[in-house]
Amino acid sequence: MDAADWNHRYDEGVAWSDEPNARFTGIVSDLPPGRALDLACGQGRNAVWLAQQGWTVTAVDFSSSALVRARDLAAARGVDVTWLEADVVRWQPPLVVYDLVAVLYLHLAPAVRVRVLRHAAAALVPGGTLVVLGHDVRNLEEGHGGPDDPSILLTPSAVVRELGAVDVVTAETVARPVAEEGARDALDTLVVVRAPQVSQHTS
Ligand SMILES: C[S@@+](CC[C@H](N)C(=O)[O-])C[C@H]1O[C@@H](n2cnc3c(N)ncnc32)[C@H](O)[C@@H]1O
Repeated sequence: MDAADWNHRYDEGVAWSDEPNARFTGIVSDLPPGRALDLACGQGRNAVWLAQQGWTVTAVDFSSSALVRARDLAAARGVDVTWLEADVVRWQPPLVVYDLVAVLYLHLAPAVRVRVLRHAAAALVPGGTLVVLGHDVRNLEEGHGGPDDPSILLTPSAVVRELGAVDVVTAETVARPVAEEGARDALDTLVVVRAPQVSQHTS
């Protein structure tokens, strides 16, 4: 889907929660606030939550309609976020700047996903944390919701492979309860990596 398709979806009233993803907040709550980058931020639920926790947040999405909602949410919650309208496949974040980079529920063809993931990892300062969370390919058969094109769904091993040289903290498929009577849990790929610390050489 391109930016026009996403704008159409938002303008037609697709409704997602304004509340942050619980898996994400569980991971990030242990980190000291610093500079954060949210790639494909959508309507800003996670970026706004980060700002409420004291993070300095830049959030990027190519949908202008998503960013209208995101700005409204930030205003309603009384926080500042730097919003950027850009295609994360083409836009490269500045190198070695962010303590945290989030890539949540961004589903792209692997050939372009790898570029986004590498850019995301390269934006981290040493010791910084990258969180990648999205619908797992197992979700199709065993889970609930999400895209039905297997080629854009995630697996923990594919994300780790595409990221290249990083310290993996977590790479697993996790269940996410769904607020729908009788529905199975959704299955997400969760990968958390830490940028290597710069080694200290003494002579
Ligand atoms: C399912 S929403 C997830 C939003 C947010 N990460 C969250 O968890 O609430 C996917 C978002 O990715 C954005 N997106 C998809 N492809 C993109 C791209 N190439 N560049 C920037 N944003 C993109 C869409 O506009 C949409 O807002």
